[in-house]
Amino acid sequence: MRAVVPGSFDPVTNGHLDVVRRAAALFEQVVVGVGVNPAKAYLFGPDERVALVREATVDLGNLVVEPLGGLLVDFCRRVGADVIVKGGRSAGDFELEVQMAQMNRALTGVETIVLPTSAEWAYVSSTLVRQIASLGGDVAPFVPSCVAERLRARRGTDG
Ligand code: PNS
Repeated sequence: MRAVVPGSFDPVTNGHLDVVRRAAALFEQVVVGVGVNPAKAYLFGPDERVALVREATVDLGNLVVEPLGGLLVDFCRRVGADVIVKGGRSAGDFELEVQMAQMNRALTGVETIVLPTSAEWAYVSSTLVRQIASLGGDVAPFVPSCVAERLRARRGTDG
């Protein structure tokens, strides 16, 4: 069975990777969809977000990373996936995910599985990582090394 793990990944964190890797262990094939949420302002452009997720998952043979445009259910159809896998950090996350799961199932019948994030990473979010990095903090414990390097390089050029 093929699953889609969608997200903004701005940037990909160890919390995302925990969910992505567990999805790759559960399903034969995984497609990570790197999308755009119109409600969000992005630090990294779409190509860079895709490239960083690819670099951080290069060891996984049953996983590909693709840009996700338009509706998530249309993306699932296009790549031949019957299941969406999301990570859930908190009760608030689950509340939102249940509504989206019900809507996506009503749209095309696609199912959603919410994997509780490992406790080790439950407090990590891309928003906090971006904020800490922009103010000169060390985010290396929370992100893959390619992301830590990219954030350091950006800080160097952004002043
Ligand atoms: O959790 P994120 O990072 O905000 O997810 C971003 C993304 C692009 C995966 C999400 O916004 C999405 O699924 N967008 C597709 C639009 C869509 O299908 N909307 C209806 C959802 S019920």
